[in-house]
Amino acid sequence: MRRTLIAGNWKMYKTISEALELVNNLKRELVDQDTVDVVICPPYTALSEVSDILNGSNIGLGAQDLHWEEQGAFTGEISAAMLKDAGATFVIIGHSERRKYFFETDQSVNKKIIAAQSKNLTPIVCVGETLEEREENRTTQVVEKQLKQGLKNLNPESIEKLVIAYEPVWAIGTGRTATPGQAEEVHEFIRNWIKAEYSEELSSGLRILYGGSVKPSNIKELIGQPDIDGALVGGASLEKDSFAGIIRNVK
Ligand code: 13P
Repeated sequence: MRRTLIAGNWKMYKTISEALELVNNLKRELVDQDTVDVVICPPYTALSEVSDILNGSNIGLGAQDLHWEEQGAFTGEISAAMLKDAGATFVIIGHSERRKYFFETDQSVNKKIIAAQSKNLTPIVCVGETLEEREENRTTQVVEKQLKQGLKNLNPESIEKLVIAYEPVWAIGTGRTATPGQAEEVHEFIRNWIKAEYSEELSSGLRILYGGSVKPSNIKELIGQPDIDGALVGGASLEKDSFAGIIRNVK
C-alpha cells in the first residue's frame, strides 16, 4: 500500500524568518495528522534552521536541487553531503524550471539521482511535457525519454528509493490543473513503464506525485485516481491554510 506524500516546493520564496514562521504554524496545524507523509522544500538558506524546528515532528525536509559532484570548484552549487548536513532527507531533481531556465538535461538528472542516493537523500524526480508537446500529442513520448535517460542504468534498489513527480509544464503556476483523467493517464503510463523496465513489485510500490496548480479544492479528485499517490505543490505550499487544507482534503 502506497502512503500518500504531499510535498511543498517553496521555489525562490521566503527569507529565513518567513520560513520559520510558516514552519512553526504548519507544525502546530499538522501535529495530529499521521495518515499522510508531508515534506517541505524551502530554499537552501533556510534549510538548517527549518530542520531544527522540524526535528522530532511529522514533517520531513527536502531541498530543491543539488550538484552531482561530492565537492569542488563549482561556484554557487551545493552537494548532497551539504544538504544532508543541513538536515534534508529529500531532494527535488529535474524540476521543469531547472530544465527551462538553467538548462538541466536528463543526463544531469541521472547524475544527480546517483549523488543524492549516495547520501541517502530521497530524490523526487520531475518529468512532464510542455504545452506544445501535449498539443502535438507527444506527451508520453517526452515522458518516456525523460524516464529512460533520467533513470538510465539505475538498479532496482535505486528505483525503490525514489519518488517520481509528473508535472505538466503548462499546469505549473498557471492555475490550469490537468484534469484528473489527463493526470491519471500519464501516471499510469509511468507506472507501466517501470513495470516493463523493472518489475511489477517495484512499479506497484513506486510513489508518483502530481504537480501543477494543486489546491485544497482539487486535491480530492486528483488523489482519487488509482495511480496518483500525492502532490508536489508550489504556490499553495507557501501559506499555512492552503497547504494544510490540501493535506486535510487528502483523507
Ligand atoms: P504550482 O503548484 O504553483 O503550480 O507549482 C507546481 C510546481 O512546480 C511544484 O514543483
